Amino acid sequence: MSENATALPPIESLFDPNSQSYSENPAPQCLAIAARGPLVWYAPWQAWIMTQMTDIMDCWKREYLSSDFYDWEFAPPRPTEENWNKFEKALVGHSLLADPDHHRLVRRITSPAFSRNVVENIQRQIEPHVKRLFDDIGTPESFDYITEVAQHIPFISITAMVGVPEKYWPEMKRVTQTFTETWNPTISEERRLRAQEDSNKAIDILQVVIAERRENPQDGDFLSALLKIEASNDNFNEWDIITLILALIGAGADTTLIAQQWSVYALLKNPDQVQDALESADAFSNAFSEIMRWSGNSKMGFARYAPSDMNLLGQEVKKGQMVLMMPHLKDHDPAYFSNPEKLDVKRKFEPDVLFGYGPRFCIGAALAKRQLYLTLSEMFKRFPNITLAEEPERDLEDHNAVVFKRLIVKTHL
Ligand code: HEM
Repeated sequence: MSENATALPPIESLFDPNSQSYSENPAPQCLAIAARGPLVWYAPWQAWIMTQMTDIMDCWKREYLSSDFYDWEFAPPRPTEENWNKFEKALVGHSLLADPDHHRLVRRITSPAFSRNVVENIQRQIEPHVKRLFDDIGTPESFDYITEVAQHIPFISITAMVGVPEKYWPEMKRVTQTFTETWNPTISEERRLRAQEDSNKAIDILQVVIAERRENPQDGDFLSALLKIEASNDNFNEWDIITLILALIGAGADTTLIAQQWSVYALLKNPDQVQDALESADAFSNAFSEIMRWSGNSKMGFARYAPSDMNLLGQEVKKGQMVLMMPHLKDHDPAYFSNPEKLDVKRKFEPDVLFGYGPRFCIGAALAKRQLYLTLSEMFKRFPNITLAEEPERDLEDHNAVVFKRLIVKTHL
């Protein structure tokens, strides 16, 4: 922390993740807010920002703040049980992401569904779809990586991971695009409700898929593993399965779309790093953390809500106020990383918190890294001389991350 905060200019004048300057170089703004103290009030978002890694790791680990969106002071009223539609029954009723006790139980009993051989199997299923995507692109002089590749990958990998048969893919596709809109407070009520309708339809399909799978049990995908867990656990039922699958869609679609764009951009800007990054799946696992650190694409961090009035890190926080944990503020801090502006895919991370920490550590981490590895390896195999066609324009509209409007690549074929 630096000098007395009152002597400093208002933080709003130094920190604005939606600004053009942040999208071009977030480092000075991230360092400026972190220098203001461990918990900084940010009026434009009506939220507290938690800036220091030790505090963030402690909060992740002890879960003393709520993860329940309906505990937010500005959330719409929590729907009552008699009025729940299917979406609400899955999300509000089961509260996988909200109720810490049920959450821990579900994570514990579902851990066999993430065993190494299930994950390996899922990865084998994704590979032919990635190849098919590049077959469809063919050998053009240039193409937009976002529309031709990145936008398809999250859907392919999540449906393959879950085990949704291909005949249902067209109907399922929309929900992966609109799911995060179901609780987005910055859009209209009408659009939120339309997104919920997409989710209701997706739940209908999932119920059909589950019924079919009960008739014809299989092995090797996530749904089959979850059905086995359901059969031997009284505290885990079909709605837990549906909730978990929706959570995979919610947490796994946007994140991988962003990761795809930045991975391609980072490696094309630093061609000397490609070979080391893609040497093996394990090498890429580390390279990916470095790519995301270097890219500085995070804007928001991770939201939590104060369960009661509390004194937190020296500040009086009111019940319902949002606290945003921002682990990315350290990413260009020379106190954490030497030469932070340099991409070094062999850089060591101790600890590596890209996928979170503690009880809510990312379920999809292995899948996310493997599908990126598969896609990038395929791209460089097909187009070994690929380059960026232009410096891509940043899209300031995305509220969660710095992304590109287009990412045109030249194949040099
Ligand atoms: C680049 C890709 C990804 C990154 C960087 C990422 C990162 C994270 C982080 C940091 C968390 C913790 C959030 C918090 O504490 O509030 C998280 C949670 C989660 N992630 Fe990911 N994720 C990625 C991809 C995926 C994918 C592909 C899936 C699923 C297919 C997924 C499923 C989840 C789920 C379900 C949670 C909630 C876990 C829980 O609350 O127990 N993520 N992720």
